[in-house]
Amino acid sequence: MNPDQPLLFFDSGVGGLSVLGPTRALLPTAPIVYAADSAGFPYGTKSEAEIASRVPALLGRLVERFQPRLVAIACNTACTIALDHFRAALDVPVVGTVPAIKVAAEMTRSGAIGVLGTEATIRQRYVDDLAEQFASGQTVARHGSSELVELAERKLAGSLPSVEEVRSATLPLFEQDGGEAIDVVVLACTHFPLLEDELRQAFPQVSWVDGGAGIARRIAFLTRGQPWPDSCPDGIALFTGAPPGGPLLAALASYGLTETANL
Ligand code: DGL
Repeated sequence: MNPDQPLLFFDSGVGGLSVLGPTRALLPTAPIVYAADSAGFPYGTKSEAEIASRVPALLGRLVERFQPRLVAIACNTACTIALDHFRAALDVPVVGTVPAIKVAAEMTRSGAIGVLGTEATIRQRYVDDLAEQFASGQTVARHGSSELVELAERKLAGSLPSVEEVRSATLPLFEQDGGEAIDVVVLACTHFPLLEDELRQAFPQVSWVDGGAGIARRIAFLTRGQPWPDSCPDGIALFTGAPPGGPLLAALASYGLTETANL
């Protein structure tokens, strides 16, 4: 294993930064390639067939170009649709991101949890199975919001969303039958932890859980004993669409992604 072999993170946009952040905290000198399929963004409003055909082709190109030691697919939408398919298509270890329903089900006191994801994620059989396996007998309300995804992108691009915007995009989760009892919400889209400050202010009585820290631990576990560079190399952010500008460049740099390129 070459110490310069990177960890490759993949998402439709900036959401994967919520997984990269905790990973960098555990593996501070890990070389990082972060790929955003910005030309395909958003994934949450696409069909299963579109995601299942688009993502493996992109991942295949990325793996060929960067020879990563591990691929983290930091996107619930892609993973709940076709994680096994991606694993089968790639010849490197793959870590996926799926809704942290088990954690929420263990935390709830009221027996009512929420799953906040994209429209595509919340309709997946994968989510039904997690709910059946880990939260049977509990209320599991779901809400899909492309608006929250957009707000997170906007925030990283320098235009801060108001607490009210985040509140009104999230409110339908609590307005469903039994929704008023929800005390724990799973952030089942990697974009949403980027809005955690606003979510906490909007719904102070609720606990929010996401998979970022658990995925970071999994990455550290799978790469244990491997050599790393002595100091942190410049991370690379790749975009399939238009190159990022202004405030987004600063946000990427705060995650160690100081170089940008097109894919
Ligand atoms: N960040 C992604 C997820 O975890 C996808 C958001 C989108 O492109 O709609 O689901």
